[in-house]
Amino acid sequence: MGHLNGKTAIVTGAGTGMGKATAITYARQGAKVLAWDLGVDVEGRALQNNPVDETVEIIKEAGGEAVPFYGDVSSMSDSEDAVRTVIDTWGQLDILTCIAGILRERMIFNMIEEEWDDVVRVHMKGTFAPTKFAAIHWRQRREYGRLIAFSSGAFLGSAGQPNYAAAKAGIVGFIRSTALAMARYEVTANAITPGAATRMNDRSLGTADKIRGGDAPPSQVHWGAGTDRDAFNVPPMLVFLASPEGRNVSGKVIQAVGWHFGLYNDPEVMRELHSGEKPWDMDYVFEHFDEALTHDLELPGARTADSIRAERGAPTTPNA
Ligand SMILES: NC(=O)c1ccc[n+]([C@@H]2O[C@H](COP(=O)([O-])OP(=O)(O)OC[C@H]3O[C@@H](n4cnc5c(N)ncnc54)[C@H](O)[C@@H]3O)[C@@H](O)[C@H]2O)c1
Repeated sequence: MGHLNGKTAIVTGAGTGMGKATAITYARQGAKVLAWDLGVDVEGRALQNNPVDETVEIIKEAGGEAVPFYGDVSSMSDSEDAVRTVIDTWGQLDILTCIAGILRERMIFNMIEEEWDDVVRVHMKGTFAPTKFAAIHWRQRREYGRLIAFSSGAFLGSAGQPNYAAAKAGIVGFIRSTALAMARYEVTANAITPGAATRMNDRSLGTADKIRGGDAPPSQVHWGAGTDRDAFNVPPMLVFLASPEGRNVSGKVIQAVGWHFGLYNDPEVMRELHSGEKPWDMDYVFEHFDEALTHDLELPGARTADSIRAERGAPTTPNA
């Protein structure tokens, strides 16, 4: 028996990579899936053919149920349409999985407004917009709702991705807010920091060079191959969170990279300095600030999200 029998799901970004693997896995687990993709390249430029049709074909050929949806995740009207389509077709929406995303890497001093706006729009608004309409339904239904949104390890900081790092950290804040707001309606909300060989990291510097030199793209080598970089390693975690058994997990950031799952801690204040219940005295601040709060901190310097992960002994993910 599938863990998602009788459930319905929206999966955004279902045309390629982890979204595609997730839509297929959800369907294998018994869910009816609205597979949603705009059909764009990694930077958000329209492709000639939308690959989400293939995702739907794969699901149907295996005896599953799926419909394609071709909208933009950052559009309010497309989002309302997608949620309405699921409710009109199958009577209810149980699971919303926001995976769609794009990249426009640039150092902060070179980044242009469009690069900032597009990445923040697709990731952050592209999580907010579908969630808003799912939440209206879940609040009316008061029975079941699962929101899973893809953040990234880059939310810890990634030097060449200020737009992406900000958007992915924004998703964490959004998830924590939504988890609180929707708890009384039997809805959970969690953020995932994933990692897999997809077309997104085919373009990381070292990999892109190797592909130019004739190597096969890792996204193709690992797809469905059962290796540690296979995109199909991520969905089992999502299936658990989306299932009835996931009811006790909400407001969390969870890592799914290869053959490894992890739970992030909740950030908390670790040291304090008090004014003594009176307005701050500037001399007092300068005397005590470093000693009380910051004396042993390292400067970030050239540290990246990956080097931070490496320092902690966690697996690293190139570029996304
Ligand atoms: N690949 C990794 O290791 C990695 C690491 C951390 C986070 N992520 C995140 O995981 C998610 C999936 O990444 P992936 O590597 O599978 O990428 P991918 O490029 O293979 O898939 C992204 C999909 O999103 C779709 N999309 C883009 N903009 C859209 C829009 N406006 N509306 C609808 N669909 C749109 C694309 O067409 C594409 O099919 C992304 O949010 C990414 O930021 C990936």
